[in-house]
Amino acid sequence: MKNTVSTFKEMKSKGEKISMLTAYDYSMAKLIDSSGVNGILVGDSLGMVCLGYENTLSVTMEDMIHHTKAVTKGAKNALVVSDMPFMSYQTSIYDATVNAGRLIKETGAHAVKLEGGATVCKQVKAIVDAQIPVMGHLGLTPQSVNMFGGFKVQGKSEEIAKKLIEDAKKLEEAGAFSIVLECVPYKLAKIITESISIPTIGIGAGKYCDGQILVYQDMLSMFSDFKPKFVKSFANIGSDINKGVKDYIKEVKESSFPEEKHSFKIDDSIIEKLY
Ligand code: KIV
Repeated sequence: MKNTVSTFKEMKSKGEKISMLTAYDYSMAKLIDSSGVNGILVGDSLGMVCLGYENTLSVTMEDMIHHTKAVTKGAKNALVVSDMPFMSYQTSIYDATVNAGRLIKETGAHAVKLEGGATVCKQVKAIVDAQIPVMGHLGLTPQSVNMFGGFKVQGKSEEIAKKLIEDAKKLEEAGAFSIVLECVPYKLAKIITESISIPTIGIGAGKYCDGQILVYQDMLSMFSDFKPKFVKSFANIGSDINKGVKDYIKEVKESSFPEEKHSFKIDDSIIEKLY
């Protein structure tokens, strides 16, 4: 079944949980999509898990376009959301609209995601007015890592908790079709989820969100730089890869790979003429 922004809204109204994962290339998008996930986010987390950066701040529009193009080719049924990188929408409403348009036109993504609450609502409205669905992102918004002083849980104080509830309502008013809640206490995520009619997608925000998202390298244990508390390991692909590569190296060294069945043949009469 093809997932659209309407599917997301319907799922919230029926109380059906929404599943999302990140993907950054064709092969993974195809695997994840064929497993039946509702949505794929081409996150700017690609800066960390694909490009080896310390944070997401250096990711460019060109990076996002390059990876999102590959993902949309592999995803047949999932709703594909492409992240707007740092400084592609904060600078002006014009920049936000033009860059959101580029992500949709040049990649085939169905929606864009951007970080922030009240301060980016003008941008959200302008992008939605341009007929591009927008996913919001509140809580630990990684593009604000320097303002937060690190990757920290957000919304533990009354003041910030109230602000996050207000921000969620404002994003809905501005036209966002859903909101990612990252690293907020689960009881606050529940209140936010109940305060708005659009779906919340949690990552480190507990079970009361309308859906969940994880970075695939985290949930498949393929990324070992650090493991956030909210990550559950659903498979150990990292160690499977290590084992596979070690076996390959061993077989290459002992000349047991490639075997004849992996090799191409030529007529011996031709070979004789080559000596
Ligand atoms: O960039 C990303 O992958 C994200 C998710 C963690 C929500 O924003």
